[in-house]
Amino acid sequence: MPENILVAVAWPYANGPLHLGHIAGAYLPADIFARYHRLKGNNVLMVSGSDEHGTPITLRAEQEGVSPAEVATKYHREFLKSWQQLGISFDLFTTTDTANHADVTHDIFLRLLEKGYIYQDSMPQAYCPNCQRSLPDRYVEGTCPNCHFNAARGDQCDQCGRTLNPSDLIDVRCRTCSATPRFENSEHFFLKLSAFEKALQKWVGDKTHWRQNVQNFTLGFLEGGLKDRAITRDIEWGVSVPLPGFEKKRIYVWFEAVIGYLSASQEWAKMQGKEDGWKPFWTGENKSFYFIGKDNIPFHTIIWPAMLMGYGGLSLPYDVPANEFLTVEGKKLSTSRNWAVWLPDYLKRYDPDPLRYYLSISMPETGDMDFSWHEFLRKNNDELVATYGNLVHRVLSFTNRNFDASVPDPGEPDEVGKNLLQKARNALDEVDRQLYRCHFKEALKAAMALAQDVNRYLDDTAPWKMIKQDRQAAGRSVYTAIGAIAALKTMLYPFLPFTSQKLHEYLGFAGDIREAGWNLQLPPAGQKLPQPQALFTKLEDKIVEEEMARLGSVGPA
Ligand code: MF3
Ligand code: ZN
Repeated sequence: MPENILVAVAWPYANGPLHLGHIAGAYLPADIFARYHRLKGNNVLMVSGSDEHGTPITLRAEQEGVSPAEVATKYHREFLKSWQQLGISFDLFTTTDTANHADVTHDIFLRLLEKGYIYQDSMPQAYCPNCQRSLPDRYVEGTCPNCHFNAARGDQCDQCGRTLNPSDLIDVRCRTCSATPRFENSEHFFLKLSAFEKALQKWVGDKTHWRQNVQNFTLGFLEGGLKDRAITRDIEWGVSVPLPGFEKKRIYVWFEAVIGYLSASQEWAKMQGKEDGWKPFWTGENKSFYFIGKDNIPFHTIIWPAMLMGYGGLSLPYDVPANEFLTVEGKKLSTSRNWAVWLPDYLKRYDPDPLRYYLSISMPETGDMDFSWHEFLRKNNDELVATYGNLVHRVLSFTNRNFDASVPDPGEPDEVGKNLLQKARNALDEVDRQLYRCHFKEALKAAMALAQDVNRYLDDTAPWKMIKQDRQAAGRSVYTAIGAIAALKTMLYPFLPFTSQKLHEYLGFAGDIREAGWNLQLPPAGQKLPQPQALFTKLEDKIVEEEMARLGSVGPA
């Protein structure tokens, strides 16, 4: 029975270009996971979209002197292009600014209100006497009451990850002019998180398959006690509040953004012409995986599950495999100081698969990952070109020259050959097991270990020498190596989709590699092989210096 797998991916704020921190944190692992499950024959729905509301967008719009909608639309388009170029295979990447999303948000809001999980109360709202305006979330900064970090934002502390209200901050100041805001009471709606404390504790406690850091962070968060949170704001940009008297307020961006997973699933179903097509991923037997960066953990392991519990009838997250952070050349990423590698910029100069490879083999699953251009070059040249690309190329071009460009007849298989094909099958199983548990690094390492085994096998059986004395034996080892390479194309497909599709064709298969499924697809003897080309391009040493010079200098792409 195929499983129903929802791959839910964090919604990027459409207020600036994507950088490699985003990719390693959420988009790449999500895509690897989705491709893997599709190949396994499972039903996959992978959704996300641009997070178009909230103060991250309005702040940027003010800086650029344009409307929030213009900012959001510009980056949304850029995101779509990046997904295509990097091969991030969303079933739907929509936005939070659709009518459908507003409808679904209103439905959830009203149902929670009706059930008493949302209530009305007043809340202190920051007002800057100097700027003469009210200050939502990110317009205020101050000291975190939890860890005493002195540059916490009004919505969250970047140091300890706590979610905050502006009035929680100590020594609060206006982000624009540094004046001390005053707080005035304003009527708002609150999500009764306190009502879910016990239920969440129990739910999280059971999650033995979660990553340790995610479970521990969540349990720690719950230990501090859950406070009800305001879910409306005095702003004009966002999803409206579906009640009279609240025309000047909007729903808080975090409350509606997480609803995007559901609204996008429903939008996708409508697009497929099957209104109910989202239900298998949200009700009954299904597993949902939320791919996010670690700063988003509380929203996905506490707030969204609480909303779902309150709403009723929909599946809670099965796993939240949050990744840690990416540093660049040993330093913390900073978008304002341009200490980041911008994705559109990368994609202008290099192929997608080498980046996917590097970010996967060093993925920040349990600790931060440092991206360095030197390491990027080394991984491309030593691992992709030398270990994998050359292996494929020497086997296929040898076949081309000596066996009339078709898969040789193996005759009677021998022990070493049977061994190698067994190793290939084992590797396929091992990668399968690791990917099933979201262990991306381990999975890729197991696949690359097979590539090394094939290289060793070829060095041992040396068909290029053997061909002179025993053509049959040479043919047998080439046949076997081609078989193992066929296993590599499959197990590496989730990581290196462009390369695997090419290799699929170099091995003489037609059509889309996905049709072959997660199997060892042995090219039969006699199968015609086209003229092979190199799978990867060697990079020159000088790119390291060139790329390092871009860091911290020019503005973002
Ligand atoms: N836009 C948020 C961020 O970049 C993430 C939103 S994830 C969602 O941090 F689930 F809320 F959509
Ligand atoms: Zn803090």
